[in-house]
Amino acid sequence: MEASPIITLTDLEDLAAERLDPHWREYFAGGAGSERTLRENVAAFSRYRLRQRVLCGIESVSTATTVLGQELAFPLLVAPTAYMRRAHEDGEEGMARAAATVGAGMCLSTFATTSAAAITAVAPNLPRFLQVYVYRDRGVTREIIDMAIDAGFSGLFLTVDLPVVGSRDRERRIAWEFPEDDLPMVVFAKERGLDAHGTVPVDPALDWNYLEQLCESVTVPIVVKGVLEVEDAVLAAEHGAAGVVVSNHGGRQLDAVSPTIEALGAIAEAVGDRVEVLFDGGIRRGTDIALALALGARAVLAGRAPLWGLAAGGEAGARTVLELLRDELATALHLMGCASVGDVGPQNVTRIGAA
Ligand SMILES: Cc1cc2nc3c(=O)[nH]c(=O)nc-3n(C[C@H](O)[C@H](O)[C@H](O)COP(=O)(O)O)c2cc1C
Repeated sequence: MEASPIITLTDLEDLAAERLDPHWREYFAGGAGSERTLRENVAAFSRYRLRQRVLCGIESVSTATTVLGQELAFPLLVAPTAYMRRAHEDGEEGMARAAATVGAGMCLSTFATTSAAAITAVAPNLPRFLQVYVYRDRGVTREIIDMAIDAGFSGLFLTVDLPVVGSRDRERRIAWEFPEDDLPMVVFAKERGLDAHGTVPVDPALDWNYLEQLCESVTVPIVVKGVLEVEDAVLAAEHGAAGVVVSNHGGRQLDAVSPTIEALGAIAEAVGDRVEVLFDGGIRRGTDIALALALGARAVLAGRAPLWGLAAGGEAGARTVLELLRDELATALHLMGCASVGDVGPQNVTRIGAA
């Protein structure tokens, strides 16, 4: 890492912006449409307030938890983000090692620049999950899933908010193309005769029946990633999901939807007793994680934050980001009077303007 001190994630974000290939910087940073949702995902956290409690007699706090039965030292998974090797040559393997060192988990993208087996080889103890995009050819999708399960991945995150790719102005401006040859899981699909290329690399007509069939046919739990509305969270629970990720794909799909932190509370209230409610979108601070926990998330996923660390300093940079988030969360919990993640709840948060 550089001589200049890295105190906050913003320091690393600035460094990442300098070091990234400008073309790929636009791809990683961009969102859909006017990027209102992208901006709001971050800005909306400031409409909530953590409640400080004092004289709680807490000697030290524990940030440990479980997600889908997997133990985590703190409640965070690295979100599935495509093309990590284009951020830094350490790629997904470097990210996996960083996550394992810090005690976080990781969800590997279908559009990863490495295979599930390679992740297991470098980080056998990492709690790891596969994000699934579903090809029209269900057989190929199934083979990709089976390879991950064989490699010890312990759950699937079915991304449902991408029946078509969002309208991304930055990608159009830089004439971004889908470099499919970088992606082992896509190459695998192509070798099976699939045309994975183009604007529709996934089945646009996926429905709830597919979720149900998938849940019945695999031995690992399935989380539905990309839920923003209570009705869909209820349907996910009814169709066999073990969890949902309240997510708008980091503002990259439908612009003008709610920032995720505003969608979280109602969803956690509706289905939190039936399924694990996870959250992503705009996590840049440990206090953001604390707010998400208070509003009902069991754990969070972070996309761009660890990506900026990877881009700035490879595996070491990613580790720095995860350590920052972990340590900031521990400090926040202590000051909130919560000895553990399980102690955090609605009593720890207020919303500006709420009665
Ligand atoms: C560059 C980039 C690539 C992404 N690729 C995927 C992907 O392949 N699959 C997926 O389910 N989500 C993908 N996402 C969405 C993330 O998993 C996550 O929902 C989002 O990044 C969370 O917001 P944050 O970046 O503010 O943390 C991607 C996000 C970014 C920024």
